[in-house]
Amino acid sequence: MRKSFEHLIWEVEGQVAVLTINRPEVLNALNADVLEELDEWSTQIHPKLEQSTNPIRCIILQGAGSKAFVAGADIKEFKGKTKVEAQAISTRGQRIFGQIEQLPVPTVALVEGYALGGGAELAIACDFRLAAPNAIIGFPEVKLGLIPGFGGTVRLPRLIGYANAMEWMTTAKTVTAKQGVDVGIFNAILEQENENMLDQAKKWITPLCSMAPLAIKSVIFAMKSQHNTYSTQFFEKEASLFGTLFETLDFEEGVNAFLEKRDPGFLNK
Ligand code: COA
Repeated sequence: MRKSFEHLIWEVEGQVAVLTINRPEVLNALNADVLEELDEWSTQIHPKLEQSTNPIRCIILQGAGSKAFVAGADIKEFKGKTKVEAQAISTRGQRIFGQIEQLPVPTVALVEGYALGGGAELAIACDFRLAAPNAIIGFPEVKLGLIPGFGGTVRLPRLIGYANAMEWMTTAKTVTAKQGVDVGIFNAILEQENENMLDQAKKWITPLCSMAPLAIKSVIFAMKSQHNTYSTQFFEKEASLFGTLFETLDFEEGVNAFLEKRDPGFLNK
C-alpha cells in the first residue's frame, strides 16, 4: 500500500485502524484527488484485510477537525462539468463507496459536525455510524439543483425507510445526533464531555474487537450479501439523472448561489 497520501491519513494501532479525510479548510469536501485516494486505499486494503495474519479488526473513518466529517462532494469542482463528465463522476463515486461498503471488516463512520451530501453517502456506506453531539447529517443536494450521486438514493431508503428517505432527499432536511439515533441512521451518540470522540469511538467498538474474528467476518459477509442486493439499474438511474441535472439552469443557479453565499432563486429550467 502507498506509504502516504496527500489527503488521507491511515493509522493502524493494534486491532483498530483509523482513516482520516484531511481537508479541514473545506470541511473535508471530496474533490477528485480525495476520491482518487479513497479508490486506491480501498482497493489496496481489501486483500490485506482478508489475510488471516492481518491484525485489523475494525476501521474507523473520520474527517479532520471537529467541524465536519465530510461536507459533501467538492461543489467548486462541479462548475463547468458536462452531463457526461458529471455522470462519470457519479459512477466513479458509486464504485468507490461500493468498494468501501464491501470491505471484509466492520467500518465505523465517526461523524463529528457535518456529514452532508457525499459525506452522508460515505457514512451510510459504512457498517456503523457514531455521532458526536454536534453531528448534523443530511442530503442537501436539491438546494444545488442536484440529487445524491454516490449511491444515496439507493442506500438511504434501506437504512431509514422509504418515507423518511424521500422526505430527507426532497426537502434537504438535516438531522441532529439525537434525531439521527431516533431514525436509526446513527447507532449511538458519543456523549462523554471530557473525552475525545475518537477515544470514545474506540471504546464503543471494543466489544466487537473482542469477539471471534472469523465469526464477525461471517456475520458481515452474510448480512452484506443480503443487504447489498441492489440492482445495478438503480445506480445507473441515479448517475444518469445526476448527470442530466448538470445541464439545467437550476443547477447553475444552485452552485452559483452556494459559491456566492446567497439563497438560490430557481427557475424550473
Ligand atoms: N464543497 C466545496 N467547498 C465546501 C463544501 C463543499 N461541499 N462545503 C464547505 N466548503 C467550503 C466553503 O466554501 C468554505 O470555503 P471558503 O472559506 O473558501 O468560502 C469552507 O468550506 C467553510 O465552509 P463555510 O460554508 O464557510 O462554513 P459554514 O459553517 O458557514 O457552513 C456548511 C457549513 C456545511 C453548512 C456549508 O459549508 C455548506 O452548506 N456546505 C455544502 C454542503 C452541501 O451542499 N453538500 C453537498 C454537496 S453535493
